[in-house]
Amino acid sequence: MKLHIDKDRLARELDQLASISDAPAPVVTRVVFTEADLRARAFLKGLCSEAGLQIREDAVGNTFVRWVGIEPKLPAVGTGSHIDAIPNAGRFDGTVGVLGGLEAIRALARAGFQPRRSIELVIFTAEEPTRFGVGCLGSRLLSGALDASAGGRLKDREGKTLDDVRLAANFSGSLDHIRLPDKYYHAFVELHIEQGPILEQEHIDLGIVTAIAAPAGMRFWIEGEGGHAGAVPMADRQDAFLAAAEIALCIESAAKASGGSDTVATTGVCDVFPGAMNSIPSQVRMEADVRDIDLARRDRVLDKIMAAAEQVAARRRVSVTTEVLNADPPGRCDPMVITALTCACEAHRASSKRMISRAYHDSLFMSLIAPAAMLFIPCRGGVSHRPDEYASPEAIARGTLVLAEALASLSG
Ligand code: GLV
Ligand code: MN
Ligand code: MN
Repeated sequence: MKLHIDKDRLARELDQLASISDAPAPVVTRVVFTEADLRARAFLKGLCSEAGLQIREDAVGNTFVRWVGIEPKLPAVGTGSHIDAIPNAGRFDGTVGVLGGLEAIRALARAGFQPRRSIELVIFTAEEPTRFGVGCLGSRLLSGALDASAGGRLKDREGKTLDDVRLAANFSGSLDHIRLPDKYYHAFVELHIEQGPILEQEHIDLGIVTAIAAPAGMRFWIEGEGGHAGAVPMADRQDAFLAAAEIALCIESAAKASGGSDTVATTGVCDVFPGAMNSIPSQVRMEADVRDIDLARRDRVLDKIMAAAEQVAARRRVSVTTEVLNADPPGRCDPMVITALTCACEAHRASSKRMISRAYHDSLFMSLIAPAAMLFIPCRGGVSHRPDEYASPEAIARGTLVLAEALASLSG
């Protein structure tokens, strides 16, 4: 089989997708179920129909694009990623796994390959936690890691529930039917940019992921006493923001003191109410992300943060409510899929390295219900979740070629 990736077309489609954004280029902001997200979905579905593929959407908007195999009843081979993007993001996170997955299917079809098992591209809903506070919403529901009724009740910052916003976006039906049946996939492979510097620094073409770090999300509601910024003496204050600031510093020190260099913690959201320069903050909503490849160590850090938050609250005479939004175990990639990726790299003379993923991905949840692994493409300076995120068209085409080869061998 002579496989050829249309590098220019793929680069052009990535550009077109990046232009569907809520912020001017080069920034990509595409939060789930906003108008930009819905337009991006329509763009993708147009390309998939043009390619002659069957499209199905579930009640939360996960989109399944199927190339029907010669034996359609066999469990399929899945690939895919996400198209939602955090505020002020770049253009390659998630999108290379979706458009690369589509181009891999088109390349296999152009080469005359006929899959025995169906090959299915999945566009997962809301891999990013921006709107509902938990990442991988679509794949959590697909894998059953998130219970359907709890999922429907998740709220965004405006207090709208997932059920409200998905219905407004025309995704109806019960969330109860989203979970995929056992053995739905024979294997699942996600192509993604590395989002770290290792492949570039070591001049390696592709990364083969063996494990995905364990993420946890925390939310703090802090309530103090508001008042006039001039009139209330310093000694009498119960400033909710200053308590939040101290808790954020405790989060940093808990991660640094974990004893492992794979522990990371980030406080990325801090909404201050009422948000006026001359008013003492009375309420804060703060969100933090804590990760590790070692589950027990990650959980010890979570415990330490919760204890520190209580101490800060007592000392500063504010109330703190801490919610653990998610605390997921690490994902283990599957040896069969890792071997298929290794052989595909060898077949196309691409150098590769086995590595862990410090970012999370939908594959974390797919690995709960299917043998799964990931293929990483190097990205410039390891930069991601920023508008200057960059992966070269050559690197993306190489990753897509190896993905196509692996899909062929897993489905054939
Ligand atoms: C995914 O976007 C992550 O935060 O790892
Ligand atoms: Mn991301
Ligand atoms: Mn991603």
